[in-house]
Amino acid sequence: MPPLLEFKLFSEPILAIESSCDETSAAIVQGLEIKSNVVASQIDLHRTTGGVVPERAARAHVEAILPTIEGAQNLAGVQLQDLRAVGATNRPGLIGSLSVGVCAAKAIAFDLAIPWIGIDHLEGHLLSPLAHDPNLPFPWTCLLVSGGHTELVEIARPLRYRPLGQTLDDAAGEAFDKTARLLGFDYPGGRALSEAAESGDPGRYRLPRYSPGQGYDFSFSGLKTAVLRLVESEGSALRVEDAAASIEAAIVEPLVERTLRASEDARTSAIALAGGVAANLRLRAALAQGAARMGVPFAAAPPELCTDNAAMIGIAAAFRLGAGERSGWEMDCSATSSLWDGSS
Ligand code: KG4
Ligand code: ZN
Repeated sequence: MPPLLEFKLFSEPILAIESSCDETSAAIVQGLEIKSNVVASQIDLHRTTGGVVPERAARAHVEAILPTIEGAQNLAGVQLQDLRAVGATNRPGLIGSLSVGVCAAKAIAFDLAIPWIGIDHLEGHLLSPLAHDPNLPFPWTCLLVSGGHTELVEIARPLRYRPLGQTLDDAAGEAFDKTARLLGFDYPGGRALSEAAESGDPGRYRLPRYSPGQGYDFSFSGLKTAVLRLVESEGSALRVEDAAASIEAAIVEPLVERTLRASEDARTSAIALAGGVAANLRLRAALAQGAARMGVPFAAAPPELCTDNAAMIGIAAAFRLGAGERSGWEMDCSATSSLWDGSS
């Protein structure tokens, strides 16, 4: 088990930028220390359309990017001249949104004559549990669950990732949000659904658990159809809290079963949890219990690092810059991740 100190981290101030989807965020990090992390959310904008409209998201990033960067500098008490590198999410995500953060990052780095590095958004999420426990021993089995992603990953050490399983259709957060909408909650309804579930009976409505194959993949699109049928058949007799608890169990159980099994099969030294859905208390509790049974430590990303944020991008940038990596000015944005294909 290599201790973290063996990995060289870039030790000077980095400006990190995240704009891959619907949050504009800037952070100042130094090694694993987060000096500031400012997030301008577009949720109110996208609530009016019930989801993210890419063109509107990109325009909102343009408006928010400079004040957000200034806010991160002010909070950290760091001047532009104090920065020694800039990291920005350049994949995966909405191209228009990514471009706003990447252009800002390149312009600042070019002007200050310091390096910039493009970071894979998934890598930011995957390393975010280090902000909770910098000594979590490698290798980890890491479950990344958000509105856009559901990935089970073996992390041999920072920058070394092996995908174990993924969703074949909807992401776990998407499953929460779509079923929450069927119950009448506003977008994004995951949190409201899980709050309603607290006083509900998860055994009242039997909803299917889809387990594609013998491996570690996930599938949630069938659940949405089952909930639609449940809502239609129950009508006004539907007990919303019980439905919420039943839905939450149907999403959380497969996530927990596969994560624990993957960790056991690979004999990893720790279990980690990241992404927006990591805020779900039942998921956290079930994984913590399972890890304790297996005798391995468990760490989840701190709540402010679960949803999209620039601090996690800064942590990933500190590892990559520490390993000597730099991006060229020609480095562009990409809609897809390249974390698994050896090119990152
Ligand atoms: O990481 P994130 O910001 O998503 C992406 O940008 O991909 O996470 C947002 C997702 C949403 O789907 C939201 O409903 C879900 O995380 N979420 C939750 C909870 N809090 C946020 N899902 C279940 N339980 C929660 N407590
Ligand atoms: Zn994300």
